[in-house]
Amino acid sequence: MSDHKHARAMGAEQLLAGRRICVCVGAGGVGKTTTAATLAIGMAMRGQKVVVVTIDPARRLAEALGLETLDNEPQRVFAPGSKRLNDAGLPDIKGELWAVMLDPKRTFDELIDRVSPSPERAAEIKRNGVYRQLSSAVAGSQEFTAIEKLYELAQEDYDLLVLDTPPAHSATEFLNAPGRLNAFLGGGALQALIRPTGLGMRLLGIGATPLLSALRLVTGVDLLTDLTRFLSLLGGMAGDFTARAARVEELLHADTTGFVLVTTAEDRPVQEAIAFRETLRASKMPFVGTIVNRVAPAIHAGTRAGLDGKLAADLADRLLACARDHEVLATRDRANIRRLREGLGEQPLLVVPDLDERLSDASGLFAMQQELFGD
Ligand SMILES: Nc1ncnc2c1ncn2[C@@H]1O[C@H](COP(=O)(O)OP(=O)(O)OP(=O)(O)O)[C@@H](O)[C@H]1O
Ligand SMILES: [Mg+2]
Repeated sequence: MSDHKHARAMGAEQLLAGRRICVCVGAGGVGKTTTAATLAIGMAMRGQKVVVVTIDPARRLAEALGLETLDNEPQRVFAPGSKRLNDAGLPDIKGELWAVMLDPKRTFDELIDRVSPSPERAAEIKRNGVYRQLSSAVAGSQEFTAIEKLYELAQEDYDLLVLDTPPAHSATEFLNAPGRLNAFLGGGALQALIRPTGLGMRLLGIGATPLLSALRLVTGVDLLTDLTRFLSLLGGMAGDFTARAARVEELLHADTTGFVLVTTAEDRPVQEAIAFRETLRASKMPFVGTIVNRVAPAIHAGTRAGLDGKLAADLADRLLACARDHEVLATRDRANIRRLREGLGEQPLLVVPDLDERLSDASGLFAMQQELFGD
């Protein structure tokens, strides 16, 4: 009980105090997208103008937020007088809540528009086969464009930006992917490739030609021409990518940015959370705290004798078996939360119970908001 009270006293509002950017990271399926939306709702209820960037939200969450389609521009949700909100009889949002469902392909295209010296050059890049492959590849491009979108929205007048992150195979992947892609677009590798006398051109020109020609015969895709052209189109822009990457890095490291680690209390996510904490420390990213999601509430299964005479025998047996299963889970969760407290350091750790079917609509999000903000 006292533990619970303590968690309540330290709510999500304190976690985010003084932060303008909040990045929710964690293992796959732990509730990053849901948590990002809930943090945004909570801060908007407390008067801030908030935008949340979601990535592949579950259909029910998108519906609850009124985001029926991928739309790269922020849409105002739960606006005063909105039918959805009034129907559900939900509390007021004093500030403003805006939401984006990230469209990586469009974000990539918009980046090209922004950094290209001319619209013609941008159009040619976007038509290029290699660019089309690169920008629509799921691996890496979600991470890259999520950060890109964040950087873009940071130039606007939001009090708080909450960024969801893609389902990474491992949580650390998220931090590395944008850097890798930026390094590719802006870094020395690209410059070496496109120098006419560079190794890349020699390789493309000599070694790779038979292979690429064969590929063209089979697939009809002229990779060599496309790749050569793509690299030379990007040529003059390499510096822009590098400079942009540096500003993005700066934004992520700012003391007004906070990484929130989301995890469940299951073994694997807990292990990943501890590893991710180390990565944040090593890369000097500002870590503000942990949200342990979907924790099984503690119960004591009690004894069979306690049920005697109150329920039919077979029902009492099943009820007790069910309660014991739950007790095992709850015990494991508490042990893992202790592991997390030891492994993660001083920063606050908030616990959110499993809300199961209660999380299915907007009122579910408000219920989770209450858990996180503690009122
Ligand atoms: N506290 C909770 N109680 C019950 N269900 C929850 C809770 N938090 C999240 N969920 C459910 O868990 C599922 C996964 O949540 P979510 O999509 O937010 O995870 P994620 O970390 O973003 O996943 P991914 O890594 O695939 O992007 C969803 O169906 C969501 O409704
Ligand atoms: Mg998600």
